[in-house]
Amino acid sequence: MIPEEFPLDPNLIYWNHAAIGTWPRRTRDAVCAFADESMRQGARNYPAWISRESRLRMRAARLMGAGSADDIALVKNTSEGLSLLAYGLTWQPGDRIVIARGEFPSNRIVWESLACYGVCVDSVELGCDEPEEALLGAICERTRLLSISSVQYATGLRLDVSRIGRACRERGVLFCIDAIQHLGMLRFDVQQNMADVAVADGHKWLLGPEGLALMYVRPSLRNRLRLRQFGWHMVEHAGDFERRDWEPAHTARRFEPGSPNMLGIHALEASLSLFEEMGMDLVEDKVLHAARQLVAWIQSHADWELCSMDAEGRLSGIVSFRIRGADGRMHARLVNMALARGLVCAYRAGAIRLSPHFYCQVTEQLEKADGVIHHVRRELGI
Ligand SMILES: Cc1ncc(COP(=O)(O)O)c(C=O)c1O
Repeated sequence: MIPEEFPLDPNLIYWNHAAIGTWPRRTRDAVCAFADESMRQGARNYPAWISRESRLRMRAARLMGAGSADDIALVKNTSEGLSLLAYGLTWQPGDRIVIARGEFPSNRIVWESLACYGVCVDSVELGCDEPEEALLGAICERTRLLSISSVQYATGLRLDVSRIGRACRERGVLFCIDAIQHLGMLRFDVQQNMADVAVADGHKWLLGPEGLALMYVRPSLRNRLRLRQFGWHMVEHAGDFERRDWEPAHTARRFEPGSPNMLGIHALEASLSLFEEMGMDLVEDKVLHAARQLVAWIQSHADWELCSMDAEGRLSGIVSFRIRGADGRMHARLVNMALARGLVCAYRAGAIRLSPHFYCQVTEQLEKADGVIHHVRRELGI
């Protein structure tokens, strides 16, 4: 099944799923079929589109460990989901939020934007032996929320989110997970993690398009979040256009004001079907196997320095490294030049970030990747 689903250009080594993932064949087929149908029949079969949307919500609920599809909102992106939470809560001057230092900007800027309400952000350094302890240690009496990417975007550091979630619940602190670097890569379970909110866009490890994100909101929090966007689609009786009275939908659809991203829904539903067929146990095993291969490869080079933690439970599908003696600018140039030679990876936080997915043939690709990097280093004189 895997090779047929990923007929990638054979000249490419695509180790960049932490930025934007490839699409499986079935996703491309779903988009083509949707385009064809729209061209020939318009929305004549709209009920079938709605069924596709329901299927996506059900798949998302299973993938995230949510109790029900009603707990899933389909939002534009991770940043929008985080903003729905930030501006859905009511803040008091002096309230505090704990985040990680070195977080992706989406999971920092939104919290900093609450400064207008007198909210303060405490940023915690995670580069220590016990990052969970460090995060929990920053919680004080005024802390209302802890928000974290369960897998850090630059280093791939994987956090023990169930431990953080349990501690937050015990201390009455809301717990929000940015799962964009986790969902589709590793097993995930919002209930086990005791998350109040979890959100992930579909274009990275979920192998879908940009612009459609899965957002879980814990049922007991759903009605407590103040709504900031309104429209025909977020009401309980959506579609009954003559009706004058309205109330927000009882489900997480209340966070979706207008027409859905039906093209994205068709695509992401197809992508998620692949994860369900494979099973996340197998996906996780394969991703971690690929990551371990990359760690061993990096460690086999005397002047390469691994930036990711490779301990069991810390390693994820994101592995980053630096070349000793080269500065950030050189690393950025190296990544650009490697791209031109078919090695697709990214420059993040001063390092080269590699992020292969479960289908990547890392064993067969290592020799070529090695050749590309050595060639580029010679050209750059590093
Ligand atoms: C941890 C993390 N959060 C959020 C984002 C951005 O998400 P979106 O574009 O869905 O808002 C990224 C993208 O790289 C990311 O790595």
